[in-house]
Amino acid sequence: MTETTEDKKRQGDAQQEWETLVATLRRYDDAYYGKDAPLVSDEEYDAQRLRLEQLEASNPTLRKKGKSKGGEAIGFVEPVRGFTKRPHHHPMLSLENAFSADDMRAFMARLRRYLQLTDDMPLVMHCEPKLDGLSLNLHYQDGVLQWAATRGNGEVGEDVTDNVRHVQGIVSTIPMKGDSVIEVRGEVYMNHKDFVALNRLCEQKGDTPFANARNAAAGSLRQLDASITSERSLSFMAYGCVGYPMPTQSACLGLLRDWGFPTDHLARQCESWDDIATSYEALLEERETLGWDIDGVVYKVDHADYQRRLGVVGRAPRWAVAWKFPAQSGRTRIEGISIQVGRHGTLTPVAELEPVRISGVLVKRATLHNANEIKRLDLCIGDDVIVQRAGDVIPQVIRKAKDGRGRQTFSFPTACPVCGSEVVRHDGEVAYYCTGGLSCDAQRMAWMKHIVSREAFDITGLGEQHIKTLMAEHIVHMPVDLFTLDAHRARLQALEGWGQRSVDNLLHAIAKSKDVSLPRFIYALGIPQIGRVTAELLAKHYKNAPHWVRSMEQAQDTSHESWHDVCAIDGVGESMARSIVDFVRTYGAMIEQLRHVLRIKDYEIKGADMSLPLYGKRVVLTGALQGMTREEAKYRVQEMGGIVASSVSHATDYVVMGENAGSKAKKAHALGIKILREQEWMQLLKGHIVGTGARDTELHETADGLAKGQGTLPL
Ligand code: IVH
Repeated sequence: MTETTEDKKRQGDAQQEWETLVATLRRYDDAYYGKDAPLVSDEEYDAQRLRLEQLEASNPTLRKKGKSKGGEAIGFVEPVRGFTKRPHHHPMLSLENAFSADDMRAFMARLRRYLQLTDDMPLVMHCEPKLDGLSLNLHYQDGVLQWAATRGNGEVGEDVTDNVRHVQGIVSTIPMKGDSVIEVRGEVYMNHKDFVALNRLCEQKGDTPFANARNAAAGSLRQLDASITSERSLSFMAYGCVGYPMPTQSACLGLLRDWGFPTDHLARQCESWDDIATSYEALLEERETLGWDIDGVVYKVDHADYQRRLGVVGRAPRWAVAWKFPAQSGRTRIEGISIQVGRHGTLTPVAELEPVRISGVLVKRATLHNANEIKRLDLCIGDDVIVQRAGDVIPQVIRKAKDGRGRQTFSFPTACPVCGSEVVRHDGEVAYYCTGGLSCDAQRMAWMKHIVSREAFDITGLGEQHIKTLMAEHIVHMPVDLFTLDAHRARLQALEGWGQRSVDNLLHAIAKSKDVSLPRFIYALGIPQIGRVTAELLAKHYKNAPHWVRSMEQAQDTSHESWHDVCAIDGVGESMARSIVDFVRTYGAMIEQLRHVLRIKDYEIKGADMSLPLYGKRVVLTGALQGMTREEAKYRVQEMGGIVASSVSHATDYVVMGENAGSKAKKAHALGIKILREQEWMQLLKGHIVGTGARDTELHETADGLAKGQGTLPL
């Protein structure tokens, strides 16, 4: 072969590899960004992307070809149909990656070369944890949030304005006047706790669990129905701002903080290579304890004028880089599948793994969520799998890597592996349950672990092992026995490893925990579906434990007013109400025993709330309001201290009536409840807060007056 034909062949091969890579990466992008369900691990994706970059670097014509085809850049996707498209005022960029200290050093050297800085001249970098969520653009005009959008293809994003109202950390006005357009950029993410709770819900419902917290955040924000977002806990952290020039990135974060945005408290300046390397190592260690995912550290040139000189290459700024953390997933083999019995009797399949080290931690077990998930992933004992772990989240099997030789299918047990009781599957649910209730050791154990946990009774010094010993010694049998341990002081002190001091400390912690607030008590009961937020709503509504318990007993009769009343609490709904009522019926005796040994405080309303114009009032919204969406109206009621209820009862204080209001308005009329027509409602709002675009000083002053308790409702 002559040299030219060899060249041609090489070019042809490169072209072919490039086309395959581009097609594969686009498929991955579509799954990751478009469907929030990744096909491969981040590491596999990064490796293929790196190969693409290398190929393009040695064959510059390839990149041009990609452009001329009008193809999307890798790492970006077209906005999904159904969402309104929002052109960003300034493009939303991506980041170049570094995977090693060498890559990072090379990046720093490139910066110095470009800026013509010698080694002894300062070059301050700003280091920020790289949150693993999805980027969001908040568009403000004259200081008022106009819309919010995902990154999309970098030029045009998906409008998620209604959805972001439910995200913590979003600020609706910033102190800017005049004809200004400012875009605040940041990351929406879900913390581990909420991610685990959401996947648990998926487990119970039989929905496909999210592979990681990033996908859970993206899947929750990118909902065409904003009410779904409202049920998920999402947070926002700001990392940038365009349209408001600041001298440095550090000053920019300071400004964002002043405007009320959360920014990362771990962000800092780095003045030397040592600073850069140490900050990376420190964050790598801290990653485990943060409670949310970070997948690397972003280093940005701090000075804005340097940033301007460095500019942008392709779709990434030349002045920033993401130094990625090592993989948090690994490949191993399923050696067996065991069953874990949870607090409510749910049976969760767990993969027993050939131990594998994943980012420094030896992983031996991983959750398989439920029977449907085993089927969906087509898993058998003996298969090779990819396991993912992050921080304190239980590792999970995310996909099969290879069929095992002689693989054995797994069938779900028909009897509880702990107590032998029958296993059932309720209609419409995917989870299997042990029917043993509190007679099942596993269920009792799980329950007690919940009771002593920090958010419940917060009994320090009583870990799982201690509870096991107490149960084995028959000192503790039922949850209530935890609170009468002082009667067993001598026996406790005689237990191996339980000295006088630790017993004293434990009994002290127990005595302290007996004074409990109503929301904490309700949460601590461990009612299925009832988390801390709902427990707070219930406490706020019923005010004291006897009233709550009595109402729940009455609500067993679904024609009783108490049933309608609990269903009408905004944020509760019928499914939760059913769960509470069933729980109180089944465990009424145990609740009584607990109430007997505890001192449950009545619900206390914080002082500040009492000055709000709708403080403690129950408001029902009905019909179509012309001036605002239902979501906005709900938000306003809550902002004024009110409680939104979904149906009218004797407990309702006001009904806000829009057009075509039906039976609720009639019922309100019949019960003699005050009805506010839209005009009166708007008047009330005008007196207190402010709609988008109506935020002038005069209104603020009126609102201040009301908030200080000087005003009364114009009703
Ligand atoms: S700056 C100008 N800063 O990482 C460059 N991005 O891989 C634009 N991210 O799309 C991004 N934490 O979603 C920046 N402190 C941070 C970040 C951050 C997370 C995400 C962001 C971006 C992606 C790029």
